[in-house]
Amino acid sequence: MDRIRIIGGNPLNGIIPISGAKNAALPLMIASLLTSDTLTLENVPHLADVEQLMRILGNHGVDIAVNGRRESQGETYSRTIHFTCRTVVDTTAPYDLVSKMRASFWVIGPLLAREGQARVSLPGGCAIGTRPVDLFIEGLTALGAEMEIDGGYINAKAPKGGLVGTRYTFPKVSVGATHVMMMAAALARGTTVIGNAAREPEVVDLANCLNAMGAKISGHGTSTITIEGVTSLSGARHRVLPDRIETGTYAMAVAMTGGDVTLEGTNAHLLDTALEAIRRAGAEVTETASGIRVVRNGGGIKPVDVVTDPYPGFPTDLQAQFMGLMTRSSGVSHITETIFENRFMHVQELARLGARISLSGQTAKIEGVQKLRGAPVMATDLRASVSLVIAGLAAEGETTVSRVYHLDRGFERLEEKLTNCGATVERVSD
Ligand code: UD1
Repeated sequence: MDRIRIIGGNPLNGIIPISGAKNAALPLMIASLLTSDTLTLENVPHLADVEQLMRILGNHGVDIAVNGRRESQGETYSRTIHFTCRTVVDTTAPYDLVSKMRASFWVIGPLLAREGQARVSLPGGCAIGTRPVDLFIEGLTALGAEMEIDGGYINAKAPKGGLVGTRYTFPKVSVGATHVMMMAAALARGTTVIGNAAREPEVVDLANCLNAMGAKISGHGTSTITIEGVTSLSGARHRVLPDRIETGTYAMAVAMTGGDVTLEGTNAHLLDTALEAIRRAGAEVTETASGIRVVRNGGGIKPVDVVTDPYPGFPTDLQAQFMGLMTRSSGVSHITETIFENRFMHVQELARLGARISLSGQTAKIEGVQKLRGAPVMATDLRASVSLVIAGLAAEGETTVSRVYHLDRGFERLEEKLTNCGATVERVSD
């Protein structure tokens, strides 16, 4: 199994191209199930989760053509991919495919809307607390579907004549359930109004793509989304938005190691709250014509408290990385996780590098230390694993991160991007 070996201590200097957002690419790919025409997505990152979803979509009858062309700007491997689902050949998403990635559960929305039925295994994915599907069940039930759990599967059935528009307010903000409701309601009869919808940029990206396909969605980006159902959707061409989590991760890495890096092909306004926290920690963050420049030369890292929240709050997907940064601050900081329970598995691994962190309920107290020392550590989930890389970049000596398949799910060419900026990072295979 591969490991990442890091020799810490080098500042980062140079340019890092930011990839297309994994969390936008996945629902966009799933939207291809809604039409018999071709949906072309540009800037799709080359990641294990994307490959896995291609297998799942293939199983439902989606024909997938990948353009091998490298994009010239920044030479990312992000690709243009054509998805065509002339006919849905199977409305079942089996356990062995769905259990590997939670987002694949989202096929339930388009399958139900287009075929009137779906049988989808209950999901797997990152081990970050219990991640139930009650909001999906309630939302789709409000659209008139019959939902039944049977043998680890959800059997969903639309009423005769198809799903019916509704007013439904989520009791809790959910990105995935908002995606699914939008996709299902796009082909429902009548108008749907979703209250307490997620406002994440990836939700907006999906809504924009669905509108390009002929859907009638408005209000995306606010907490009330209105969807006027249409009878069919067509193909479209859509560019996946930049990955704000990858952007924030590298910005935090530079704040941690010091240096001067331009993050290219991204947009500061996708992550204002996180960038503000990085500024307060002592790095300079400025917008450039093509992205964001992050600089920290001299000057220490200041302690900053953050609380994770749905967008536009501080993203839970950057919580572990920010904790990595705070381990080297000059004082005491607190990080409170409000989205997921049990999303602190990186704490004990950071402690192996010399971090001083104590947990009380959903809040971590981090006492900054002057030095971290390299050690073997283990990745536990996608975002946690990259926090260990960030800490390793600033630690004295050698850090090896095992179980890097977690990183491969969400970070395109991580070693190469960091090495190009002067870090000593390599992948070693046993
Ligand atoms: C998405 C992101 C993930 C991010 C998360 C929160 C993708 C592929 N993944 O995950 O990276 O960390 O948003 O920003 O886009 N919940 C319920 N019942 C449900 C559904 C969710 O209680 O039916 C809870 C979850 O357990 C969690 C909270 O709602 O506590 C938010 O989860 P949700 O926004 O649904 O996360 P995902 O869409 O799975």
